[in-house]
Amino acid sequence: MTNTSYMVVSILMWLLKATVALQQSGLELGGRGGNRTQRDVSCTDNMEYLHINICCLKCPAGTYVKSPCTKAGQSGKCEECDYEMYTEHDNGLHQCLRCTKCRFDQEIVRPCLSTQNTECQCRSGWFCAPDQACEVCKKCSRCEEDEVKVRNCTAVSDTQCKKGRSGSGFASASVAAVIVPVVISAVIFGIIVAFVCRRRCRRPTDIFFFPDPESNPPNRLKEVLENEPFPNLVPVNGEESLRNCFEYFEEMDFDYHKRFFRQLGIKDNVIKSKDHLQHEDRIHELLNSWIEKVGKEASLNDLLKVLLTLNQRLTAENIMVNATSNGHYVFEKE
Ligand SMILES: *[C@@H]1O[C@H](CO)[C@@H](O)[C@H](O)[C@H]1NC(C)=O
Ligand SMILES: *[C@@H]1O[C@H](CO)[C@@H](O)[C@H](O)[C@H]1NC(C)=O
Repeated sequence: MTNTSYMVVSILMWLLKATVALQQSGLELGGRGGNRTQRDVSCTDNMEYLHINICCLKCPAGTYVKSPCTKAGQSGKCEECDYEMYTEHDNGLHQCLRCTKCRFDQEIVRPCLSTQNTECQCRSGWFCAPDQACEVCKKCSRCEEDEVKVRNCTAVSDTQCKKGRSGSGFASASVAAVIVPVVISAVIFGIIVAFVCRRRCRRPTDIFFFPDPESNPPNRLKEVLENEPFPNLVPVNGEESLRNCFEYFEEMDFDYHKRFFRQLGIKDNVIKSKDHLQHEDRIHELLNSWIEKVGKEASLNDLLKVLLTLNQRLTAENIMVNATSNGHYVFEKE
């Protein structure tokens, strides 16, 4: 009894295993079998592409597959890429790729051809480091007064500066010999003025100099200067003066252009209509549209105020310095 039942169980177990194994291999076979044609046909990688179950010859660069071949080893119908489209290699693509359009802050290095994509780079004076995302080009840095340029700015790298004047060690030593005493005297003078002022003049700004012993006077001073309103500028030669200052706006950060002109009340469609222009021309044209819009009321002071509201104080200061030092504007007398 036990023997027969053992045998029955064994047989049943064996049958079960066999069925499972069969099912598994069946599944695998089914999987392979369904796509057998696709997997088993091997096309020559760089010359052919697979279409349903035959290998077609690829279409040459500059063309695409208009209709695939019907017999293995043929090339089907290839058609030239449309304007502004390209394929760089032999291919089995059903359409060409669209050529990149250079942005307004870039220039074309290589134009779009049917066999090559457009190549763009930042315009002269602007750059984009290759290891960073480049939504916009950045303005090349200028070396500080006490620095020398060791490498010019290129489309892919910023200007490189090095501390120290180009002169000999002796020259820099003598420069330091002049500057250090001047700076020290200026600091001492400043401290004396601050103390005298603290006692004598009771203007509210005093509070910013030494409000309490804990705070850091230089930072407070900086804060005051940073929040100081801009002096009013008066044009020397009317609208001509204003137009002469347009070029100083070229250094404005790209990220702020749209907001800047929007705040000046220029309509979005007008801003967009100038997108195709070169960076400088774009700024000049949009500033011109602004002058046309506001007429006689147009004033450099308003432009600078908009820059201040956009937190572009440095740009505003540079424009103010350029406008006054080049004789287009003078500071208003109180
Ligand atoms: C074979 O592959 C194609 C796509 O390559 C797929 O649509 C199809 O369902 C596959 N057939 C089977 C039986 O897996
Ligand atoms: C930068 O370029 C200017 C002219 O384009 C050249 O005179 C100067 O020597 C260059 N400077 C360096 C550091 O390569």
